[in-house]
Amino acid sequence: MRVDLYFTPHQADEQALRERTVVVIDVLRASTSIATALRNGAREVIPVPTVESAVKISANLFGDITLLGGERNGRMIEGFHLGNSPLEYSEEKVRGKSIIFSTTNGSLAMAKARYAKEMVVCGFVNLSVVVNFLIQNPRDFVVVCAGSNGMFSLEDAVCAGMLLQKMFNGRPEGYELSDGAHAALALYKGFGKSIQKMVMNTEHGLYLQQIGFGDDLKVCAGVDTVPVLPLLDGNVIKLRRDVEKRDADQTPASS
Ligand code: MLT
Repeated sequence: MRVDLYFTPHQADEQALRERTVVVIDVLRASTSIATALRNGAREVIPVPTVESAVKISANLFGDITLLGGERNGRMIEGFHLGNSPLEYSEEKVRGKSIIFSTTNGSLAMAKARYAKEMVVCGFVNLSVVVNFLIQNPRDFVVVCAGSNGMFSLEDAVCAGMLLQKMFNGRPEGYELSDGAHAALALYKGFGKSIQKMVMNTEHGLYLQQIGFGDDLKVCAGVDTVPVLPLLDGNVIKLRRDVEKRDADQTPASS
């Protein structure tokens, strides 16, 4: 099984991700917020690359079931209902809602994977669920780290390394790793002893603390605290179990 890994979405284009199994990682904070929103009952998350497209899409949807969420420079976008703090995506706010979601790096990476065969969203908070999905669906896959403003992000790379380490479970035979995948594994081995400490000392972690979002870091560093699988379905992200239930309901019963 071949594992490719891009440290920023700028290294991959839509064609490189077309028809592939893609894992998008944005630990701080898009992956964590999306997993939290869906766990708390959001109907779906619609990732869009720009603020303009978010506003345009929301104009065509029913206002009472739609929320605009996301950030620029870590802060809520003017006119939006929610920022990108996972703590904002509480059940009271998101249950039953469609969230149009635009962040600087994470939703950009997700939008690039729109022609993937399947795309799952991964952070530390749902790592083991993603590992199990990949083990149950054994095929080549590509990990896309969201990075930060086109640059490498340590927290995404360490999360990717932890994902691979957990998948191999001490038995890497049968996996063909790209150099990027080898590097992510080495970074996990070097920095993975305390995920929280690592996250707090990354560039983006320090920035978020500076602008008042220090509490988010603990949430984003929690391993397996939000055990759900966000899966791209058309151009929206839903819980895998909801997609599978809908597909099963639509399958005509055999006579
Ligand atoms: C992003 O997608 O760029 C991030 O999630 C930024 C953040 O809000 O921390």
